Amino acid sequence: MSRTLITGGTIVTAADTYAADVLIDGEKIAQIGTGLQAGGAKKIDASGKLVIPGGIDVHTHMELPFGGTFASDDFETGTRAAAFGGTTTIVDFAVQAMGGTLAAARDEWMRKADGKAVVDYGLHMIVRDVSDKILREMDTLVREGVSSFKLFMAYPGVFMVDDGAIFKALVRTGENGGLICMHAENGGVIDVLVKKALAEKKTAPKWHALTRPPEAEGEATGRAFRLAEMAGGVPLYIVHLSAAQALEQVRLFRDRGLPAYAETCPQYLFLSYDNYEEPGFAGAKYVMSPPLREKWHQEELWKGLQRNDLQVVSTDHCPFCMKEGFQGQPKQKELGRGDFSKIPNGAPGVETRMALMFDGGVVAGRITASRWIELCSTTPAKIMGMFPRKGTIAVGSDADIVIWDPKATQTLSAKTHHMRVDYNPYEGRKVKGKAVTVLSRGEVIVEKDRFVGKKGRGKFIKRGSPILQT
Ligand code: URP
Ligand code: ZN
Ligand code: ZN
Repeated sequence: MSRTLITGGTIVTAADTYAADVLIDGEKIAQIGTGLQAGGAKKIDASGKLVIPGGIDVHTHMELPFGGTFASDDFETGTRAAAFGGTTTIVDFAVQAMGGTLAAARDEWMRKADGKAVVDYGLHMIVRDVSDKILREMDTLVREGVSSFKLFMAYPGVFMVDDGAIFKALVRTGENGGLICMHAENGGVIDVLVKKALAEKKTAPKWHALTRPPEAEGEATGRAFRLAEMAGGVPLYIVHLSAAQALEQVRLFRDRGLPAYAETCPQYLFLSYDNYEEPGFAGAKYVMSPPLREKWHQEELWKGLQRNDLQVVSTDHCPFCMKEGFQGQPKQKELGRGDFSKIPNGAPGVETRMALMFDGGVVAGRITASRWIELCSTTPAKIMGMFPRKGTIAVGSDADIVIWDPKATQTLSAKTHHMRVDYNPYEGRKVKGKAVTVLSRGEVIVEKDRFVGKKGRGKFIKRGSPILQT
């Protein structure tokens, strides 16, 4: 068993910031203390650096099929990019085929990840039809470590399920210990607005945002929480929350003492509707759902993060290339030139989350370093049933550790990023803070800007029920 001693750094957890050494034995953290000695151990000098639990991104879409194409990162390229950015665990969404079983979808995603992932991964399940058979299968999946299920209130005819189906699934997770993750946008209203815009020849990318108003997100979020309340006050987690109107609903239900949770993503904190007004077809880079909002929503979301009405920052990493043929990718965003409704929805971000949140959050004085870790690692691990194996620096936890240089600066760019996509939504943005050494289960996988791990070393993480004290 190899041993590694990290010396001289400042440990940051969700609870504390303190100077101490960390001894790793094999895959686990063995000891934390000052002046640790370990003869024969590999040494990592972390002087002047932060020693943090690896980032946990609980919302990614590697190779997601969407609108006739697939998200351009696979489990190899996407998890390698995650590692470069200081993220050591992802939870990706497997998609139930129409009429297919959940087990088949889980197995398909395991095949996608197996032999490729370089960091550990869990799976959620996107459920598209909620029959009695599928409800029974949900119980099995929870027991087998796929303990969360995404439902859509948008994309009629593709992913959307009705209120009755949502209610049944909520009741079931209340019984089996799983968690419903909700894409909350009113798909019926959006569909009408999209058809109207297209009939009026409004085809540019910005119309994606203009046909998905924030009120459609607010309405669906409130309805989802009401359904969870009627289902017996079961926990509900809203994914990729973008709008103040939706946040207001989360706050309302939390204030009523209900187990209401939500994540937001860096794109909603750092980008805005203005990006859709970039010239030509450039707005397609930001076509995602929910869309980017007017700038004023950003400050509301920051308040939500500060007051714990938002508990998690994930990425919704779902990249599609702008240029046809980039690294062998066929037409992707280009599919929607001349019809915004055909632009594949999603944008890259798995690599840039930790740095954006450190720079725009901690360095900017909006959140503390501990809150940064809580939002990007500890609470995701808790809500998604991986804590304390993941999400903290503690004796017995997996040695998923990032040595973070708080003084280093980096310029985010498609020229230097590792995600398999030909643009970076934050192109040219200078940020302070960088992952300099990344360990996953005790093994150094990123060092001096080089990937030194092995393809396929990432393991499937069986997740449990959510820990919901937050
Ligand atoms: O636009 C997005 N968010 N694409 C990925 C699918 C989803 O709804 O999360
Ligand atoms: Zn979604
Ligand atoms: Zn998503």
